[in-house]
Amino acid sequence: MRYRPNFTVITLFCLLFFSLTSTAKDPDIDRKVNELLGKMTLQEKVGQMNQYNGFWDATGPAPTDGDAKLKYDHLRAGLVGSVLNVRGYEHVRELQQVAVEETRLGIPLIFALDVIHGHKTLFPVPLAEAASWDLEAIETSARIAAIESSAQGINWTFAPMVDISEDARWGRVVEGAGEDPYLGSQVAIARVNGFQGDDLAANDTIAACAKHFAAYGFPLAGRDYNRADISRDTLYNTVFPPFEAALNAGARTVMNSFNTVNGIPATASTFLMRDILKGRWAFDGVVVSDWGSVSELVAHGFAEDLEHAAELAANAGSDMDMEGYAYVKHLENLVKEGKVSEALVDDAVRRILTLKFELGLFDNPYGYSDKAREEKLLGHKKHLAAARDVAKRSIVLLKNEGELLPIKKSQKNIAVIGPLASDKNSVLGTWRAAVDDNTAVSLIEGMTQYNKHFIYQEGVKFNLGEETFASPIVVNETDRTGMAEAVALAAESDIVVMMLGEHGFQSGEGRSRTHIDFPGLQQELLEAVHAKNKNIILVVASGRPLDLSWADQHVPAILQAWQLGSESGNALAEVLFGHYNPSGKLPVSFPRSLGQVPFTYRQLNTGRPGPKDNVFWSHYNDEKNSPLYPFGHGLSYTGFEYSKLRIDSSDKSSIRVSVKLKNVGKRKGEEVAQLYIRDRVASTVRPLKELKGFQKVELAAGKSKTLKFTLSEKELGFYNADGQFLLENGEFEVMVGGSSDTLLSEVFTY
Ligand code: NOJ
Repeated sequence: MRYRPNFTVITLFCLLFFSLTSTAKDPDIDRKVNELLGKMTLQEKVGQMNQYNGFWDATGPAPTDGDAKLKYDHLRAGLVGSVLNVRGYEHVRELQQVAVEETRLGIPLIFALDVIHGHKTLFPVPLAEAASWDLEAIETSARIAAIESSAQGINWTFAPMVDISEDARWGRVVEGAGEDPYLGSQVAIARVNGFQGDDLAANDTIAACAKHFAAYGFPLAGRDYNRADISRDTLYNTVFPPFEAALNAGARTVMNSFNTVNGIPATASTFLMRDILKGRWAFDGVVVSDWGSVSELVAHGFAEDLEHAAELAANAGSDMDMEGYAYVKHLENLVKEGKVSEALVDDAVRRILTLKFELGLFDNPYGYSDKAREEKLLGHKKHLAAARDVAKRSIVLLKNEGELLPIKKSQKNIAVIGPLASDKNSVLGTWRAAVDDNTAVSLIEGMTQYNKHFIYQEGVKFNLGEETFASPIVVNETDRTGMAEAVALAAESDIVVMMLGEHGFQSGEGRSRTHIDFPGLQQELLEAVHAKNKNIILVVASGRPLDLSWADQHVPAILQAWQLGSESGNALAEVLFGHYNPSGKLPVSFPRSLGQVPFTYRQLNTGRPGPKDNVFWSHYNDEKNSPLYPFGHGLSYTGFEYSKLRIDSSDKSSIRVSVKLKNVGKRKGEEVAQLYIRDRVASTVRPLKELKGFQKVELAAGKSKTLKFTLSEKELGFYNADGQFLLENGEFEVMVGGSSDTLLSEVFTY
């Protein structure tokens, strides 16, 4: 057994010392930061650690009362370091002018926004993009989001969300890259590169933020903001890797999370921020709290009052307080009382000022707010084309029995049914940034480009009342108006395309569900249509894995369409009519029933694997162990065959794996070849399968290609509960295939 500690107490000390005196990679920035810091009063330093939500339509008269006045006064006194949710050339410029021209030191503000899956042009929700397994496309999506948002004055996005989650109940599954830390890490890197580009100071790149640190994706029972009771094994091997990957890619900021991690709120966790983030990983960027998460330390029962909350969060390493009022009200006093050292405040401020220098804000505070750029870039045609491209790559063909798909362009007599088929709003997804509501291309709009022989019936209304980010969707449970007409239409049609699923505002923050089925009357509609016409192509919109068991048993063709953003209908139509051959693969397992959740393909064998012919093995009495659609699953209109899996383990530092991939179907297609490993015996039990490599490859019909993968120590090793990285001698199984459940396998000895 070999043991490799990857950090020591000595290096930890050096790193801490270094980070308390210097954060920038550029010595010139370091010098400027130190110079500026030397001029700042304690109050001004604390001001930099304060972030406010937008409080004033900066083009109008200055606020004269209430909270807005307080914030305005703070801004002018140099007590605000950053603002979120303000965008637009004029608004940003006005606020920046106050900071730069009216405060004593003229330190510019950083403008932050949740630019999560596009800005004016909306791209597919992040979970959908992860289903493309197309890192280039994902990077392009983030790049365009940066170009559009920076043209509106934004220099900091609160993305990517890199939380791994195995729980389909949790509403924020939609914002991540799914259940797997390897895929999650690759996607995180692509997004960071897209947002930040090569030069953070350029006026079309923005700082990325890896969030939410940590374990936010493991809330008990899937309820948002709930506690995470999580093993160190899961923390080190599942939760941390995408954060570390994002930081290695250069992400300049991290947001901590609302939840407790094993009893300690993440926002006040010295283990998470001092030991891991700023210690072990030597992160020298900014840690921002989540919205009010410093003040929420009181509600958690961790801090006595707001002052105590400020003390705990600052000491633990939260550099900036987002809309919590805790630092701005109390930090100065806490330093004077000796409860928080000024050195720690200096460290936080150094990080924030460094970021401002890196963004080029000191050189040109108005560089990001440029009227001409704003007008030219928002919703640009090229951006829409890119959004359509990513969207079609994100669609997953779950099932295609009898090859109902693709639909012929000459097909007559098509019924299109379902409230989401005409919907232009819900498919925009959960985070809207600068997009206007109701601006997506609907499915029926997209379809008309390829085929006009269809009739549309809504079937049932999806929801009643308003659709907004901050209010719950009121689902229609009773009004069956339109159902009979839709069923009659289905009866006289040759094929039926049905678009059902969740509303875009049913996943996202605060949108956990205990039923992961089609909300409202949609299942009833599906069954009624099916009773008259079985030739159904079901298009499923959702921000999470739904329970599709009934559909899988009864419906011949199913497409997973997530929420695909501005170009939703166009992308779907391309796939439905075979203009594009679907290539997406699931980044999350789809369970057979909710009882299997939380679910991951990265199962342990247990001491009682099965199947056995008695009851004493690890299984359910009323359900299979396997998912309905496994992680990595996704069909194509062509077929792929894997053969000749070979391993060359002569060089232990770089195990070489090769496999032959052939397109055995009749049309061109793309396949995501996936490589998994299993460490058969280890001092901490390892999963039966762990993804450690993938390639998306395009092959013409009949063509084949030998794919090559390498496995280094990084992929073969794991962390034990003390956080030590181990790579142990013994047998490793290597598996390659087109889904986590259909794999060729070979063994080598390390
Ligand atoms: C709360 C969310 O948890 C976080 O992801 C987001 O960035 C902030 N609000 C700011 O909107």
